[in-house]
Amino acid sequence: MKKIIVKDNLEGAKAGFEIIKNELEQGNLNVFGLATGSTPETLYALLRESDLDFSNTVSINLDEYKGLEPTHEQSYNYFMKEKLFDAKPFKKNYLPNGANPDGEEESAKYEAIIQENPIDLQILGIGTNGHIGFNEPGSSFDSITREVDLVEATIEANARFFESKDEVPKTAISMGIGSILKANKILLFAYGENKADAIYNMVEKTPSTDCPASALQNHPDVTIIIDEAAASKLTK
Ligand code: GLP
Repeated sequence: MKKIIVKDNLEGAKAGFEIIKNELEQGNLNVFGLATGSTPETLYALLRESDLDFSNTVSINLDEYKGLEPTHEQSYNYFMKEKLFDAKPFKKNYLPNGANPDGEEESAKYEAIIQENPIDLQILGIGTNGHIGFNEPGSSFDSITREVDLVEATIEANARFFESKDEVPKTAISMGIGSILKANKILLFAYGENKADAIYNMVEKTPSTDCPASALQNHPDVTIIIDEAAASKLTK
């Protein structure tokens, strides 16, 4: 695992931007795996304002809340349109459809899309409990796309985006850890002290399903871009 420790979110976004630009210019970014959450927002702002051309690139997002229409303001479909896709056209954008009442059917369809479009570069954030995508603690390292239950800590962490905690969906469709590990290259971003435990567990503890992100230790090409606060519990 390669570590890049930066001063703040903007410096992290700039470091990530340079890696993405380089991959794109080398012709290595045909399928771009994207993440939501507040962490990649600065990166998406840099991409929006840049002259990078994604019109030959397919994007595949990690996850979507179940039960939200793609037009719902807190859906990840809406987030991606606002933060990136409206300004930067891609060849095709894939996100799970949270409005499909049949989660099993939606998950199988989405997993097939990932198989047909192997991800070149996957962007990740991390939950305070070490989740990646919506793979909560306990998720198997070979899990594939499926309907998942969100744990209380995630519902509470994400309540800040909704009018009240009760409005946060309790389930989601998420790429599995196994699906994520198939990406050729992975870039994980984390900022702030509230991510320090998750980063420590991901990087220094023996991989365990207690920290889903620790599965990344088994991947050959992971770069983590973290600020000093998120890195504060690392000992090595
Ligand atoms: C969300 C998303 C993850 C994201 C994480 C952290 O629940 N499903 O993809 O990485 O939680 O979010 P944030 O970046 O807002 O801290």
